[in-house]
Amino acid sequence: MRWLLLIVGSATTAMALGFAAVYLLSEMQLQDREAVHQFSTSIPDDAASIERGRHIARTRGCFGCHGQQLQGYDFDEQWDWPKRAVAPNLAKYARTHDAQTIEAAVRQGIGADGRELMSMPSFNFARLRDDDLAALIAFLRSAPVVEVSLPRPALGWDVRWDIARGRELSMADWVEMVPPLRLDPAVQPILAEGEYLAMTMCNECHGLDLRGESYYSGWDSGPPTPDLAIVAAYDRVQFERLIESGYALGDRKLGLMALVAPDRFPSLSDSEVDSLHQFLQSLASEPAPDAFWRP
Ligand code: HEC
Ligand code: HEC
Repeated sequence: MRWLLLIVGSATTAMALGFAAVYLLSEMQLQDREAVHQFSTSIPDDAASIERGRHIARTRGCFGCHGQQLQGYDFDEQWDWPKRAVAPNLAKYARTHDAQTIEAAVRQGIGADGRELMSMPSFNFARLRDDDLAALIAFLRSAPVVEVSLPRPALGWDVRWDIARGRELSMADWVEMVPPLRLDPAVQPILAEGEYLAMTMCNECHGLDLRGESYYSGWDSGPPTPDLAIVAAYDRVQFERLIESGYALGDRKLGLMALVAPDRFPSLSDSEVDSLHQFLQSLASEPAPDAFWRP
């Protein structure tokens, strides 16, 4: 009996130590990048800037994930991999955190508690311009706070194990890999605007460099997302229909694309659609570079 107790006791201790090690190692990975607090653009409060901020929030998908009233959202049903991802109430968050903390979450992928985010797609916002980010913050602070009760987020042991082994990257790790914007607005204003829009709207799902992502199918069991050079096949009218409704050439209703497009992209202005269309068409003249997210 004594032996049995000893064996059970040591097995329990070993297990507890194993869990503690996974927990500590994953926390180390989640805290190995520090936020750089250098954002110093002042937050405007005029009506035009707040409208601009609303436009950024709409076209960059903040409403889709944080709720149409920015009230927050529990992803429990949709995403089971992190165990429980909970997008916080953004109207409230923006009022209770300073601009530098908000910048770190949105562009660097590092949360207010100093830990790297896992589900918030900061790589899609890494290249947001300072003035657009300031307008976005102004808008979030102006939005009425709608209180709903949200559960606490949780990271499962399997994800922690992957993080601990360096198999699962954090949002801050992904942000580091976002390519820089290449075009100079002073030289090619329309194409540079199109590049800016694409690199802050479409790279969430079409690969950090817009040239497609097969990795993605593993995340969402959806199909790999195509290289956006495919847009060369679309004329202006067809392209507008695609990004406003999710209907592809040949009247095909797409899947996830048809879900996000009507929520985000109908608010793009005509000139934004023009620049985006022209820039994406120009991609066809270059081969897609190698990248590990499209093995
Ligand atoms: C694909 C869904 C998604 C989109 C799009 C999204 N978020 Fe998030 N966001 C989340 C989730 C989930 C969290 C919770 C943290 C996590 O799990 O990574 C979060 C967390 C945050 C946080 C808090 C970070 C912290 O813990 O301190 C801020 C601030 C934030 N998001 C701002 C925004 C803004 C602004 C936009 C639009 C530009 C946006 N988010 C778009 C899903 C999203
Ligand atoms: C939230 C993820 C997501 C975002 C953001 C997104 N897409 Fe997509 N897109 C997809 C997926 C997934 C597909 C593959 C078809 C499907 O499942 O909907 C797709 C397919 C497409 C196609 C292929 C059409 C065809 O002919 O088969 C084009 C073009 C496209 N997207 C353009 C864009 C552009 C331009 C943007 C940015 C303005 C964008 N997408 C943003 C997920 C996204």
